[in-house]
Amino acid sequence: MTAPPAAPPMAATEAARATAQPAAGDRVWTALDLLRWTTDYFSSRGIDTARLDAECLLAHALGVDRVRLYIDFEKPVSTEERSGFRELVRRRGTDRVPVSHLIGSREFWSLPLFVSPDVLTPRPDTETLVQVALDQIAVKTPLILDMGTGSGAIALALLSELPNAHVVATDVSSVALAVARKNADVHGFADRIEFREGSLFEPVACERFDIVVSNPPYLAEVNRSQLPPELDHEPDVALFAGSDGLDVLRGLWAGVADVLVPGGVAAFELSSEQVPAVSDGLRDAGLADVTCFRDFEDRPRVVAGRKPAVSAGGV
Ligand SMILES: C[S@@+](CC[C@H](N)C(=O)[O-])C[C@H]1O[C@@H](n2cnc3c(N)ncnc32)[C@H](O)[C@@H]1O
Repeated sequence: MTAPPAAPPMAATEAARATAQPAAGDRVWTALDLLRWTTDYFSSRGIDTARLDAECLLAHALGVDRVRLYIDFEKPVSTEERSGFRELVRRRGTDRVPVSHLIGSREFWSLPLFVSPDVLTPRPDTETLVQVALDQIAVKTPLILDMGTGSGAIALALLSELPNAHVVATDVSSVALAVARKNADVHGFADRIEFREGSLFEPVACERFDIVVSNPPYLAEVNRSQLPPELDHEPDVALFAGSDGLDVLRGLWAGVADVLVPGGVAAFELSSEQVPAVSDGLRDAGLADVTCFRDFEDRPRVVAGRKPAVSAGGV
């Protein structure tokens, strides 16, 4: 795979125009020139979010936010600044390292979160789960369980919206919990969140919650080779869940009724084709009002159910 040129980058379509310009080494490159070149380059590498990625990386290399980048579109970018940017472009385009790992953060629910290769980079899709949870919460001081918290994205988004809520956030990964803790500290939520390490409901046995949310790993191992190369940079434990992708979801639907208060709600993110299995699983576990919710691209991506307020059938 070829890295972007060491000389100031130039898209093929710009080459003809450039013949009347100074030699590449002497050329003045503005932020806009670099964005155009990088967007073309990323597009040619099959990156769907080419322009956005180019903007995020250039803003990071220049130490400014994206708004400032727009204001200073015509400002020349120095050789030193271009050199740092070029390395980011190479790692994104050639190694397919996610932008979040290159810049060390990702915004989720308007919260800038620290991320590292130890956690799943929070996805915009998961904001659907946050919204479903917010819509379902009926009590003023909810106790929430976020199972598989990763960077803490869901837990911290809920805390940002619910000033009287408390969260227990769990994960099997101690390194992921360290990232989530750091994010909770940075955003000033440390006194309303508790972190516990362990699998599924083991860290909260005998406790009861008003709402249980989880975005568990749900990819099938058999599909590994067809996945985008960016996923190679994310932890397997955050992505894969057995041959059909349901290993962790099975544990969730089987055990969730035991950790919900009567009237409490469970809401899980999943892939569209898993909706029937998870809906049936929740109903079999005694949950009522099992409903599927769609994400902003109109794909069914969240299933929620409520534990009946009056105990029935052992639930
Ligand atoms: C898809 S990531 C979600 C991370 C974060 N909640 C988000 O939405 O961005 C799944 C998380 O579940 C954790 N996990 C995987 N298996 C688990 C298990 N059996 N019990 C608890 N956590 C688990 C992983 O370590 C990972 O952090």
